[in-house]
Amino acid sequence: MTGAVLELRGLHKAFGALVVTDGIDLDLHRGECHALIGPNGAGKTTLINQISGALQPDAGRISFEGRDVTDLSVADRAVAGLGRSFQITSILPDFTVLENVALAAQRRDGSSFRFLGRAARETRLNDAAMEALGQLGLETRADVVAGALSYGEKRLLELAIAIAGQPHVLLLDEPMAGMGRAESESLTATLLGIKKRYPILLIEHDMEAVFQLADRVSVLVAGAIVASGTPDEVRTDPQARAAYLGDDHTGDAA
Ligand SMILES: Nc1ncnc2c1ncn2[C@@H]1O[C@H](COP(=O)(O)OP(=O)(O)OP(=O)(O)O)[C@@H](O)[C@H]1O
Ligand SMILES: [Mg+2]
Repeated sequence: MTGAVLELRGLHKAFGALVVTDGIDLDLHRGECHALIGPNGAGKTTLINQISGALQPDAGRISFEGRDVTDLSVADRAVAGLGRSFQITSILPDFTVLENVALAAQRRDGSSFRFLGRAARETRLNDAAMEALGQLGLETRADVVAGALSYGEKRLLELAIAIAGQPHVLLLDEPMAGMGRAESESLTATLLGIKKRYPILLIEHDMEAVFQLADRVSVLVAGAIVASGTPDEVRTDPQARAAYLGDDHTGDAA
């Protein structure tokens, strides 16, 4: 056992003749944000899907908090605290922000509240939802219907829904996608504030966000990690620059 909360060892996945995960070893440690960057089609989303359980690897093991989860279902992994956070949640636009998050808290904790009366149960769920909203600075929007939120706020709401599921790590696949600069800077600040609580595996094309947030960066190219290290190490790594970062790492490298 290392100090890693999540460990991938020798992970392999192919779609027919196309190898998309080619012997990946990767660790995520407590308190850190580990960014996985690389060109379109490199296999980043496919890797996250194997971690969350949506896809089964052909070979290799995934261990989470010291437990081998390779053969667990998506649902069992989510219960274990390995929640896929983006792109799987659908916001209910006619429900308020608070209701959306309370429903997620109920999915997670509903059965443990079943001995409480209806009113007490509702209070507990709303408290849990407000706590998740507070972590993301969304508490003032609690009573707004979700459909009325701005694009950036909807992404924050998705994150709040994920947090209400009490994950032990966050797997974020392009959380900044579609955001303007101001929204992405604000989300970066929010994620900086919560990464000690939730280790983050971050896939992101926004290099400004990556280099601000990440404690470690790994560069994935054609299913293999070609460089890994601190942001400064990766920034200056010739292979990483050649493969992905180019000459302007702070620009839009995608
Ligand atoms: N279900 C599938 N069947 C066949 N090929 C697939 C499947 N899913 C992904 N691929 C292929 O696997 C490769 C890796 O795709 P993946 O979505 O993991 O890339 P990515 O690094 O997330 O790219 P992007 O930055 O564009 O999101 C691509 O060539 C893609 O076309
Ligand atoms: Mg992808």
